[in-house]
Amino acid sequence: MADDGDAHRQSRLFTDEDGEFDADRAREESLPVEDGEVVDTDQLADHQRYVEGRGIYDERNRVNDLTGKEWKYATKSVIPEGYPPAVQHDLRSEHGGQKPPRLCAELIGRFSKAGDTVLDPFAGVGGTLLGASFCEHEGTGLREAIGFERNARWIEIYETVLQRENAARRDRGDPPLAAQELRHGDCAELIADVPDDSVDLLLTDVPYWHMDELEQTRNERATRESKLGAFDEHIDEEECADSDEEADDTAPTQTKAEWLADMAGKFDRFADAVAPDGHVVVFIGDMYREQSYEFLSADLARAIESTAPLTLAANLIWYDPTKDLHVYGYPFSFVPSMVHQNVLVFRLESDE
Ligand SMILES: C[S@@+](CC[C@H](N)C(=O)[O-])C[C@H]1O[C@@H](n2cnc3c(N)ncnc32)[C@H](O)[C@@H]1O
Repeated sequence: MADDGDAHRQSRLFTDEDGEFDADRAREESLPVEDGEVVDTDQLADHQRYVEGRGIYDERNRVNDLTGKEWKYATKSVIPEGYPPAVQHDLRSEHGGQKPPRLCAELIGRFSKAGDTVLDPFAGVGGTLLGASFCEHEGTGLREAIGFERNARWIEIYETVLQRENAARRDRGDPPLAAQELRHGDCAELIADVPDDSVDLLLTDVPYWHMDELEQTRNERATRESKLGAFDEHIDEEECADSDEEADDTAPTQTKAEWLADMAGKFDRFADAVAPDGHVVVFIGDMYREQSYEFLSADLARAIESTAPLTLAANLIWYDPTKDLHVYGYPFSFVPSMVHQNVLVFRLESDE
């Protein structure tokens, strides 16, 4: 471990005439400077390594490739980031539940290491897969990603997005994004081909329950939207994975209890594929309906924990400050404007 006293003594050697630390002078002398202090690399423990511009990395880190300084930021429970439309958003937005690839890359960077395998069993138009590819150029290294998607249209869109994105990157002189493997079919069957313990991170965004009713509600909402006072239900279309199901007429109608049982059973099966140090990270938005808040994230977390060998480690909040606000419920009842989504983080239960 670097000795703070030694680092301070070195810092003092590089003070300007006002006694202020002169980082430029220290850099000119090729000394690593972090937060205005010289890092005394001779004082690092065997398991520590200084990474230029990023801080001190601990070789014992089994979770990710982050340095201590980056880890501090990455454990923040809120991600207050409004990812502007990017990565062929016009194409990807045909899918109502698509997630920003760079948000996925951020989560992949927090919960996996370069070279790791990432699985998304509900892959849609490939937010996770694109995120894994971005990690090669904008993170610590490429992750291999496998996706499952039962709707062929979303696979076609992922492939077109990759083609167009890579053409644009070629024109800019940027290296291409790696193509990831998006398999067509039902995740309940495709998971059988994934060897046990072979996935380091499962990152996904679950399909929602009771879509026929949601569809009905949206139509009702359209007719009521002009009558603000009468508006008593709120389902956020951008947050809700709706159009995926609309385009998939094989989607069964489920009650919420059936949906929870179905998801819990699927995650129990997915957990077999996850390696012992691995994480399972799940996007899930809460919703407001029939004048009450549906705490879907809490319900799903409990259902998964009670069925699969997974322990909830965190609920991260993705807060999108750029989201449009609406006047829901005014002036009669408080109806939340949902500007956040939950990101449930599970760890595999250890056998000890
Ligand atoms: C919330 S969306 C995922 C969106 C994705 N995060 C993206 O960025 O595009 C869920 C996806 O799961 C797919 N899906 C639902 N049930 C499935 C199943 N049993 N097997 C495979 N895919 C399924 C739906 O077609 C939908 O595209």
